[in-house]
Amino acid sequence: MRPTVPAAPDLPTVALAEEPGTAAVLALPTGPAQAPTPAGAVTGGDEAGGDEAGAASTALLLADAPDAADLPALLAREGAKGAAGELVALPLPGEGPRERLLLLGTGTAGPADLRKAGAAVARRAKGSASLALDLRGLEVTPDGLRALVEGLLLSSYGFTLKAEPEPRVLASVVVAVAEPRALQAALDAAVTTCRAVATARDLVNTPSLGKGPADLADRAAALLDGLQVRVRDERELAAEGFGGLLGVGQGSVRPPRLLEATYDGGGRHVVLVGKGITFDSGGLSLKTTDGMLQMKGDMGGAAAVVATLRAVADLGLPLKVTVLAAMAENLPSGTAQRPGDVLTQYGGRTVEVLNTDAEGRLVLADALAYADAVLDPDVLVDVATLTGAMPVALGKRHAGLFSTDDALAAQLEQAAAGSGEAVWRMPLVEDYRVALDSPTADLRNIGNPRRKLQGGSITAALFLREFTGTRAWAHLDIAGPFWSGGEDEELTKGATGYGVRLLVRWLEELSAAGAQPA
Ligand code: BES
Ligand code: MN
Ligand code: ZN
Repeated sequence: MRPTVPAAPDLPTVALAEEPGTAAVLALPTGPAQAPTPAGAVTGGDEAGGDEAGAASTALLLADAPDAADLPALLAREGAKGAAGELVALPLPGEGPRERLLLLGTGTAGPADLRKAGAAVARRAKGSASLALDLRGLEVTPDGLRALVEGLLLSSYGFTLKAEPEPRVLASVVVAVAEPRALQAALDAAVTTCRAVATARDLVNTPSLGKGPADLADRAAALLDGLQVRVRDERELAAEGFGGLLGVGQGSVRPPRLLEATYDGGGRHVVLVGKGITFDSGGLSLKTTDGMLQMKGDMGGAAAVVATLRAVADLGLPLKVTVLAAMAENLPSGTAQRPGDVLTQYGGRTVEVLNTDAEGRLVLADALAYADAVLDPDVLVDVATLTGAMPVALGKRHAGLFSTDDALAAQLEQAAAGSGEAVWRMPLVEDYRVALDSPTADLRNIGNPRRKLQGGSITAALFLREFTGTRAWAHLDIAGPFWSGGEDEELTKGATGYGVRLLVRWLEELSAAGAQPA
């Protein structure tokens, strides 16, 4: 029997308010600008009769706390600097509803620091039912609030298949700000985006036993309920010539699928393509035991684009977005493709498969060629856990960004900076293209080692480029950031949902640019 995977991600609720209320944990911001004095209304611990309502309620609380009036001195004694995410905790005695007062470093109070601070305070409060952040003393921008909420919610994500899971305790977060109404839209967008990130994490964290291509297609179709969704099965794929998907998937008893889903909000047409290898053993070019450990997550690109589409539809963006998720299971067997086999990609080009572990580019090539030939996109972006060489070059927090279009690359770089999901632009080196020449087929699927050119992530991207026609195209190699080895700011151990925040932000910015009169 397979353990049941959660149907919907379970996250705390977040609400804006004018007052922090009586949550179990209250957090007050501190920053280097004010250090060692906490920001805003907090300083007046002894001003219980202050004429500002917020100051009065905070002061009441502080009157319960030991040395309450002397928070600045307390922070100084603790050596607090107000760095983002820094915490000084004061247990509050007595009968009151409040368990603890947290003094929370907010650094510069810009989005990146608020994201860190949100993650730190949610982790610290995770054993309490409710948390209130009193940010009335800070000037919180919509972007700042969004980042804070990302930190709060994404660090609270959990995934478990334990027989008796411990329920998450932190159920509600209140953020008190000076003008809640001015930030409500930013809060809604943040919650929509975080749900999509959590959904992508759930899909990636799900073990491959219960996640064959058809299972993933079913779950994705259910998530995209209300949109136009078509799933091609292996017979349809064969009839239409998707030889890359079929070749990669032919070693598994669970055949490949291609999911095509569209949200039409009018405007420009963006096609997002995701690598959906539901397990990558390497095929006959078998990986090592360690090399397979995270390969249930080799569908992280597909998860990201599907979850992004959900968010785009929920946000009602004025764009047309089509998602193609190319799903197959790469296993060795008597029916698996062999090194040296030649397959025919969608559209007719032939590829000599010299390493069955370079499978992602084969399924993506079909989807990209189909998008180019049939969907007429204005922009084409693919997301893929494509090469082990990518984290070697960039580490675990940056995706590699490859693009044939400088304007598109610049847009994605800008969205990355705002979203907290980093990218680094990589070159499509023309001189390396010869490494993909084959004497017998149109292309080989790995760079020819005799050329000694190395650059495995670049040759993989050059392979994909062959199938993108003259479209404005970008490729995100997420083999580094799709997975986190531990808890780190807004990331939890395991799947990160990388790509969702970046793509949603990019599409929002694209919508806003399109909405302006040209
Ligand atoms: N899915 C892997 C890439 C990968 C590795 C993703 C580690 C995430 C973490 C991909 O299919 C693969 O096996 N690539 C090979 C390509 C090689 C055979 C040319 C690789 O990177 O070793
Ligand atoms: Mn592989
Ligand atoms: Zn792979």
